[in-house]
Amino acid sequence: MSETSSNEFVVVANRLPVDLEASPDGGPGVWRRSPGGLVTALEPVLRSVAGAWVGWPGTPDVDLEPFVEEGLTLHPVQLSEAEVTEYYEGFSNATLWPLYHDAVIAPTFDRDWWRTYEKVNRRFAEAAARAAAPGATVWVHDYQLQLVPRMLRDLRPDLRIGYFLHIPFPPTELFLQLPWRKEILEGLMGADLVGFHLPGGAENFLYLARRLLDLPSSPRGTTGGGTIDLGDRRVRVGAYPISIDSTQLRDQSVAAATKLRAKEIRAELGDPETILLGVDRLDYTKGISVRLEALRELLVEGTLDPEKVVMVQLATPSRERLSAYATLRDDIERQVGNINGEFGQLGRPVVHYLHRPVDREELVAMYTGADVMVVTPFRDGMNLVAKEYVACHGDGSGALVLSEFAGAAAELRRAHVVNPHDLEDVKRAVVSAVGEERASAARRMRSMHRHVMTHDVDRWANSFLAQLTEDR
Ligand code: ADP
Ligand code: F6P
Repeated sequence: MSETSSNEFVVVANRLPVDLEASPDGGPGVWRRSPGGLVTALEPVLRSVAGAWVGWPGTPDVDLEPFVEEGLTLHPVQLSEAEVTEYYEGFSNATLWPLYHDAVIAPTFDRDWWRTYEKVNRRFAEAAARAAAPGATVWVHDYQLQLVPRMLRDLRPDLRIGYFLHIPFPPTELFLQLPWRKEILEGLMGADLVGFHLPGGAENFLYLARRLLDLPSSPRGTTGGGTIDLGDRRVRVGAYPISIDSTQLRDQSVAAATKLRAKEIRAELGDPETILLGVDRLDYTKGISVRLEALRELLVEGTLDPEKVVMVQLATPSRERLSAYATLRDDIERQVGNINGEFGQLGRPVVHYLHRPVDREELVAMYTGADVMVVTPFRDGMNLVAKEYVACHGDGSGALVLSEFAGAAAELRRAHVVNPHDLEDVKRAVVSAVGEERASAARRMRSMHRHVMTHDVDRWANSFLAQLTEDR
């Protein structure tokens, strides 16, 4: 057994929690926090148990030995430039991502991409097998690694293997389009426990196991969970809605420095009556264009006054080499330009658009100071941004406009819930969030805040891991 195989708890995810940003002059490069909700959720969990993390360092062709970063042992998995194209950009993000998000754009089915997906999944499974101590618990994450549970079980039958999907599991009719649907199901079936955000995902998975693999499955309770009988062992299936480190965010939001920065931001924006905020990866599933169009129409109609309202839209660059993402960026930038061209004043645009990640302190100040958070995805597994905003408003201030197609809508029921395909509905919700009487708005926000405080990321991880290790 190698020196690195002493880890009792191992997380396997496509990305490490930090990305190596290549230096243009060929120098050593800089490590930065990786984008996305998976890292936001998992990092505090893994830090609290001092586990190991197997993942890609975010840059092609870098060959790195395992290393320790702020107490976490990171095991980098190398991907070639061609593998990044076919496994990450291709099969993961041009096949599975759109298919699992209600085919918001058409998924591409490419046999070469599939073969590379298999090959790279095998590499992750081998890396996890090397990193895990005898009898260890290994937690595999997300759609990029759906074949890893089976491959890992073949390599290391002694391990306890969990799998969690961070994006929606699609309606069965859509999943059935996938030419490799059986292989994906069999891959997932290598886990002892397969987790989804919502009961609907778990139900769809149980149905497909019966229909495609002819496996007897028994639903359990009313939460969409159940078990699948494989003869020699059984796979548990359940719903585990992911969350955030609510206490940390709440504490940060009430700190004097945050309050001060929130005030400064408002002043920098020209002291508007209302600040609307959007925070997303720049992704076509997030419905950024919908909220911009709603704002434009409300300004055209005169329902919102450009002298009084400002929108801040933060958009982290994402998957930039894929044409759907490049087109989206052009479209959003054109929309922002149109609104500002029509309604802005010198030195006072209506929409402030930042196409880059902002650091955590600045983000929390923005959440704290924003009057209305607008979250309008066409489909989203959970959407942690909505929960982060609510965690920052324990005093009852603020309002949340939330798409009914975000997993978070199942929990944040007192938000201004909208159908993002219905522009009039989005406009109505923005207007009612902006104009709602203070006491009633505060009741909504306090009730959502209480929920987010008691349903935090530790509760999510503990309930998944307790189930995973229950039969040991
Ligand atoms: P996804 O996983 O699809 O990106 P989530 O809403 O679940 O969506 O998670 C996004 C995470 O990334 C959140 O923790 C959010 O705070 C962070 N984030 C998103 N946009 C930015 C940004 N522009 N700057 C900094 N952090 C961001
Ligand atoms: O959960 C959604 C997710 O796709 C994660 O798997 C991923 O880490 C994150 O969003 C960001 O996407 P990417 O890793 O493609 O930059």
